[in-house]
Amino acid sequence: MLNLILKDVTVLTAICGGFALLLVIAQKLFSNYGDFKIDINGKRELTVKGGNSLLNSLGDQQIFIPSACGGRGSCGACKCKITEGGGPLLPTEKPLLSKAELADNIRLACQVKLKSDIRIQIPESIFNIRKFKATIAEIVDYTYDTKGITFQLLEPDTISFKAGQYMQLETKPYPGMKQKVVRAYSISSGPKDEHKLQLIIRLVPEGICTTWVHKHLQLNEEVFLTGPYGDFFLRDTEADIIFVAGGSGKAPIKSILEDMEVKGIPRKATYFFGARTTKDLYLTEYMQHFEQSLADFSYVPVLSHSAPEENWQGKTGFVMPYFKDAIRDPKNTEAYLCGSPGMINAVTKSLIEHGIPADKIYFDSFG
Ligand SMILES: Cc1cc2nc3c(=O)[nH]c(=O)nc-3n(C[C@H](O)[C@H](O)[C@H](O)COP(=O)(O)OP(=O)(O)OC[C@H]3O[C@@H](n4cnc5c(N)ncnc54)[C@H](O)[C@@H]3O)c2cc1C
Ligand code: FES
Repeated sequence: MLNLILKDVTVLTAICGGFALLLVIAQKLFSNYGDFKIDINGKRELTVKGGNSLLNSLGDQQIFIPSACGGRGSCGACKCKITEGGGPLLPTEKPLLSKAELADNIRLACQVKLKSDIRIQIPESIFNIRKFKATIAEIVDYTYDTKGITFQLLEPDTISFKAGQYMQLETKPYPGMKQKVVRAYSISSGPKDEHKLQLIIRLVPEGICTTWVHKHLQLNEEVFLTGPYGDFFLRDTEADIIFVAGGSGKAPIKSILEDMEVKGIPRKATYFFGARTTKDLYLTEYMQHFEQSLADFSYVPVLSHSAPEENWQGKTGFVMPYFKDAIRDPKNTEAYLCGSPGMINAVTKSLIEHGIPADKIYFDSFG
């Protein structure tokens, strides 16, 4: 009887093993698309393995297209023009492309799978984006959910960027998370120190990258970042400036203020920092020091939910009602906003109502 059972188990195991082997062979056969060519701007030609996304295939060749959402098809940062190949437009791309972009063959590089040769056009500036190896030089707790992380660059060991731009940080697997992801973080330090970068990272409950940063990242650990990316930087004009950014949105504004300080830019500037309670305030004294070091700067924290026992003496409610005191000449004012899409929409609407031209309102949406 025991022999019979053992025989049955052996036969069953052999059948399962056979199926598994067939599956592996089938996978290899059907997912082997062969090699394809990517023609870039009619100037460079790469040969890559098919089946991968255009975004990852370029990344493997050290060409880093912005991908703020890490390739999830939600940010639209990876738009690029495809003049030949690329396959049919996917339903995941449509919501992020305007009519004009669709007509111009703009696609999302993270959604396009390479199954044939392809011709693309990308800005030459993308070739300046590098992958950096760095170590963690400092971790500071700014609030209960926000940390400042300083990276010492190792390879390459210097970076050149515009204050306001962002980097993409690559996570490592950690207990409960096998997957590596890439997320965008604005550089919070000024461009003066070309060997170091600081990022300000706020914990998102259940968030893959922020859980890694807050719960697992260690001093001296080696990590990888790519960048710099983005066009959120101070325009070279003499217009007055309104900054609006709460939470970790303070990061690029801090970088811009440090740069203004180094360059001695004398423009009138007001920074509205919206937060819920005093627990959400951070770097307050540091922000106030710019009121001394810059020619005409005011830092205005505004709390929406401060309790009486907090004894908050500053401004309360939302930031919008305080704009009118800071705007001298709306037509000669630029605004720089950073944070959630909801905040950006509400603040943009209010600034336009105050007479600031829509094309002078610049923003980085963290959504
Ligand atoms: C250009 C740019 C610059 C950015 N700069 C910064 C920065 O300087 N500092 C910073 O802390 N973040 C910044 N972000 C946001 C950051 O890229 C991540 O989206 C965020 O840290 C969450 O990543 P995660 O992997 O922890 O969460 P995920 O695993 O991506 O998300 C987990 C869940 O939380 C939701 N979620 C994602 N983001 C948020 C959020 N911000 N608030 C609430 N819920 C969210 C998701 O929808 C999902 O359900 C920036 C984003 C962009 C596009
Ligand atoms: S990387 Fe975000 S949409 Fe493609």
